[in-house]
Amino acid sequence: MNVPAILPKHVTFIMDGNGRWARSRGEERLKGHIAGVESVRAIMEASVEFGIPYVSFFAFSEENWGRPEAEVLGLMELMLKSMKNELHNFLENGIRFLVLGNRARLTPELNASIDDIEAKTAGGKRLTMILFLSYSGKWDIQQAATRMAQAGASSIEPFLVTSGIPDPDLMIRTSGERRISNYLLWQLAYAEFVFTDTLWPDFRKEEYLKALEEFASRDRRFGKVK
Ligand code: IPE
Ligand code: IPE
Ligand code: MG
Repeated sequence: MNVPAILPKHVTFIMDGNGRWARSRGEERLKGHIAGVESVRAIMEASVEFGIPYVSFFAFSEENWGRPEAEVLGLMELMLKSMKNELHNFLENGIRFLVLGNRARLTPELNASIDDIEAKTAGGKRLTMILFLSYSGKWDIQQAATRMAQAGASSIEPFLVTSGIPDPDLMIRTSGERRISNYLLWQLAYAEFVFTDTLWPDFRKEEYLKALEEFASRDRRFGKVK
């Protein structure tokens, strides 16, 4: 399959179904999250190959803090380990790495690593890869509105955590759920949505290409008449 001529500038993923993937194999949920990291790497590498400049992933929601402590701790450890492991890959491939979300809820150790990797990859020009961590759409709009009021400003966009990042053109959610689960509520205003039943650890380059084909076939009118 060829890469479509019309490509989104920013693709975002709600990576869902890790738990079910693990359970269907009689494994602990954490095994699914570990397998899911491989899909993130595959999608990141494919995005570089296809020439998509922004790719982002919903890795952990504000609501996910309500999961059992062992799963939350396991996920945070996995995040820390995976981003440290990927640093050389980011640098070799010209990838700028960013974490967006409610950073105040993360541990000092994780925050320090994120700061370090963000600083080291700041010059990456081929792809901006964003992890939404401890993020929710309502939280983002709330914190932006508060800071906007404090500044006496009249536009909310510069205060959203995504300021400076183009809004996603395409949102892909895996695992068969057809909802946005308090993700980028403002920024998805005109995104195209693709839902697939595939569980996140099984989502790889071939299916990514299919979703990009689907995106290329959509008629985006932005409220206008063509
Ligand atoms: C997505 O997979 C990853 C996170 C939300 C952290 P889930 O953990 O939600 O997997 P399911 O939906 O229970 O299968
Ligand atoms: C959304 O998945 C959050 C992330 C992918 C990080 P969830 O599994 O938490 O969402 P719900 O509970 O199915 O809406
Ligand atoms: Mg889920």
